[in-house]
Amino acid sequence: MNLLDKIKEAAYGAGEIMKSASGIRPSEAKSGHANFVTKYDALVQDYLEKQLSAALPEATFVAEEEGQEVFKEEDKTGFTFVIDPIDGTSNFMKAWRPSTTSIGVLKDGKPYIGVIYDPYMDRMFCAEKGKGAFLNNVQIHSSEDPLSRSLVCMGTAPYYEEEVSRSAFLLGHWYLLRSIDIRRSGSAAFDICSVAAGNIGLFYEPRLCLWDFAAGACILEEAGGKITDFYGNPLTYTGKSSILAASPGVVAGGDYLPPKELIRL
Ligand code: IPD
Ligand code: CA
Ligand code: CA
Repeated sequence: MNLLDKIKEAAYGAGEIMKSASGIRPSEAKSGHANFVTKYDALVQDYLEKQLSAALPEATFVAEEEGQEVFKEEDKTGFTFVIDPIDGTSNFMKAWRPSTTSIGVLKDGKPYIGVIYDPYMDRMFCAEKGKGAFLNNVQIHSSEDPLSRSLVCMGTAPYYEEEVSRSAFLLGHWYLLRSIDIRRSGSAAFDICSVAAGNIGLFYEPRLCLWDFAAGACILEEAGGKITDFYGNPLTYTGKSSILAASPGVVAGGDYLPPKELIRL
């Protein structure tokens, strides 16, 4: 079994743990506004770390529930797993969908493999550098529609300063006037996959952690889309960033970057 298949198998296993959950209660709140964690976030992460370290023993890990937010020096070379065990914990707590498991592999600090699994709808998104992006084994391509004929998905950056989330909503109105309409799913990893699969033309969120976007970046780029920060700069994959994930159609139309006066990061 190759590395991608081993990672997919681990993601399916994580999905089984998520679907077996009952009586989900937040066990503690992390720092920030309404930033909850459940026992399942830790359970899924432990399971994934065991499976993945067996699959690729030399790899290092950046995983959300370990509380490590940035790359360490040793993550800049070789392989690093970047894991969000449950992306969309608030959705998970409320049985609102989607919630996903997100596993990225960085090679020398750049996206190499992305696997994002939504166990509730059985949607397995994956990509490997140079080999295309797939949803349940069918190749996917990001949309050629311009912004005016696209749906836009926003992330609210709920855990940070008021100014940051306010900026997300101001931008929502700016994009609403230029697109079909706005959506909000509750899982940033899933949102980036939705741009890759052609359902959403553009996704943005003022602040995300590496584990929210590392896997999605590989999937989106392999589907022909573009991922940058709000100013159009390439991502550094070393920690938090604003995220703009756009389809080729939106990029070709130009004038899709958020206006600087509305940005608070
Ligand atoms: C969150 C989700 C959400 C996004 C937040 C993320 P979590 O991840 O992706 O959609 O708006 O910014 O932090 O905390 O559920 O893993
Ligand atoms: Ca997350
Ligand atoms: Ca999470």
